Amino acid sequence: MKKAVFLLVLSFLAIYFASCTNKSEEYIDPRGTDYAGSESCIQCHKPEYDMAVKSSHFKATAPAVLGNVSGAFDSKNHTFVYDKDTKLVMEKEGDSLYQVLYKNGKETARYKFEIVFGAKHAQTSVYWKDGNTYELPLSFYHSVNSWATSPGFPADKPYFDRMVVKDCYACHSSNISSRTVDQNSADRNFMSMEVLDVIDKKTIVYGIDCERCHGPAKKHAAFHLKNPNVKTANSIVSFKSLDRQQRLDACALCHAGNDGMKLKSRFDFKPGDHLSDFFRETKSINDTAQFDVHGNQFRLMAQSKCFIKSEKMDCITCHNPHDNASKNRAAYSKICMSCHQTIKHTDKTLKSVSGSLLADNCVECHMPKKSSNAISFQLSNSKQLSNYILRTHRIGIYPNAKK
Ligand code: HEC
Ligand code: HEC
Ligand code: HEC
Ligand code: HEC
Ligand code: HEC
Ligand code: HEC
Ligand code: HEC
Repeated sequence: MKKAVFLLVLSFLAIYFASCTNKSEEYIDPRGTDYAGSESCIQCHKPEYDMAVKSSHFKATAPAVLGNVSGAFDSKNHTFVYDKDTKLVMEKEGDSLYQVLYKNGKETARYKFEIVFGAKHAQTSVYWKDGNTYELPLSFYHSVNSWATSPGFPADKPYFDRMVVKDCYACHSSNISSRTVDQNSADRNFMSMEVLDVIDKKTIVYGIDCERCHGPAKKHAAFHLKNPNVKTANSIVSFKSLDRQQRLDACALCHAGNDGMKLKSRFDFKPGDHLSDFFRETKSINDTAQFDVHGNQFRLMAQSKCFIKSEKMDCITCHNPHDNASKNRAAYSKICMSCHQTIKHTDKTLKSVSGSLLADNCVECHMPKKSSNAISFQLSNSKQLSNYILRTHRIGIYPNAKK
């Protein structure tokens, strides 16, 4: 009898736990029930998914687990010396990664890598403190294959108090929510209202995912699951139906700098929306305005004659939105030549480079690499600032650009 009761209890428990695991398998998106999550798109859009999941967009933020973090943790190259008594060392302990502060050879503090930002040129990381994230003083730069000061950080002493605010996540992730903590107890500081916010960790959706660009797609996925014979898209915004400005705005949301006056959160943007409802421009795009090569591809491109006079160039003219920027310069040349069949290079230009070099390298001369004025960094034991170099999107004639 006892045995029977025991078995009965056991089977109830088994059923209970089984239903629990079923529940946790059902994906719940932190953005709400209109969202399906990128995984759900695989079954019908495998080519787009396979490409996008490897892209820098998907890696724009990620949990700082082994494999997601760039840079050395064990070779010689993992120490940054501030002065003869102070150094910061990258250390691995089990599955966790840290920036460890040493004073006179003794460990005085350790800061855990929690979230990484960036994939292509550089990667910076944050640690958690009191419900918010703070940037670690050292970042990894691919151009020098080394750790160096995070942009704007000093090289003579370690600094741990730069909060990474929600706005960073608005361009580097697909969702993050915060709640305001009791303001009475906190010291009101009008310069940093964000200080009163604490981030709800569970609400982070890492990277720029399918629905960050395409908008909520749960209805769309559900419709097509139910109606497998329908081959035209239902319940989703088609980029093909958008006008040029709307297509541009969907990229300019994050690729047009960060100095407009904010009217609405970037997270509320859906394809088809107008960026002018989100930001009030403070700078006009006239010929002479200087925009930085970092983070402002849209406004640089918008200054180009190609953009103004063709009246059709947009980001998709040269980029597959699901892939990284192609490294194949000849492929870009083909795009240039689709509009420029006859080019009047002068004898001087024609003579200085061979025909095929000229044909395959339009961007080398007309979209040259430039140093960012917004970002620079310092290596350990170096007094010099190193430049952060990106290709300008202001297509034009640069007399000094040469291969
Ligand atoms: C059960 C199948 C199915 C699922 C799941 C699905 N889709 Fe689709 N989707 C389709 C079909 C069918 C079309 C129309 C044919 C096409 O363009 O491939 C389509 C078209 C699209 C289009 C192009 C719209 C246009 O007209 O330009 C986008 C964008 C899209 N889906 C995004 C998504 C995203 C994002 C997800 C995941 C959240 C998703 N889909 C999940 C079946 C599906
Ligand atoms: C939500 C913000 C956001 C939106 C919207 C967005 N991007 Fe990006 N994009 C980023 C960020 C952040 C990076 C840097 C990712 C990294 O390297 O970690 C990036 C990187 C890129 C890159 C370089 C990737 C590489 O590794 O070569 C290209 C190209 C690009 N974006 C094009 C586009 C285009 C085209 C659109 C519009 C269809 C677009 N982006 C929309 C934020 C965004
Ligand atoms: C207005 C949108 C925007 C905001 C806000 C923003 N970023 Fe970015 N960030 C970008 C884009 C776009 C890129 C990639 C292209 C580029 O560098 O021009 C990028 C690149 C980066 C990279 C280098 C990734 C690479 O290309 O290798 C890091 C690291 C980074 N951002 C961190 C941050 C941090 C930390 C903050 C907040 C202090 C922040 N970003 C705020 C848009 C933004
Ligand atoms: C950076 C923004 C961005 C991200 C991230 C993104 N897409 Fe797209 N997607 C676009 C744009 C822009 C277009 C329109 C391209 C065009 O018209 O050439 C597009 C087109 C599509 C199409 C229609 C393809 C066609 O040939 O008509 C599908 C399907 C699609 N995306 C699915 C996805 C899925 C699934 C994901 C995630 C795995 C995803 N997208 C992630 C921006 C994005
Ligand atoms: C969508 C069509 C289109 C594409 C693609 C395009 N251009 Fe242009 N480009 C134009 C038009 C139109 C003009 C203006 C011609 C005029 O003023 O008569 C122009 C002007 C130029 C000029 C003269 C700029 C100046 O300031 O005087 C250069 C150089 C140029 N393009 C190079 C390029 C290169 C390099 C590429 C590829 C990276 C490219 N273009 C892609 C349409 C295009
Ligand atoms: C005329 C072609 C062209 C157009 C249009 C264009 N790009 Fe690019 N883009 C390039 C080239 C070329 C590169 C450099 C690739 C390389 O050198 O690896 C690039 C690189 C990038 C990068 C990576 C930055 C870097 O230097 O690594 C980002 C981000 C980017 N583009 C975003 C955009 C956005 C957003 C738009 C629309 C506002 C856009 N691009 C329009 C040609 C173009
Ligand atoms: C070695 C550098 C270099 C390369 C490579 C190069 N250009 Fe130029 N381009 C120039 C210079 C310099 C000028 C200004 C006129 C001159 O001095 O020849 C110019 C002028 C132009 C103009 C404006 C003149 C006109 O015809 O209206 C266009 C358009 C242009 N280039 C397009 C291209 C395209 C497309 C490619 C690739 C097929 C290309 N260029 C490759 C250096 C270069």
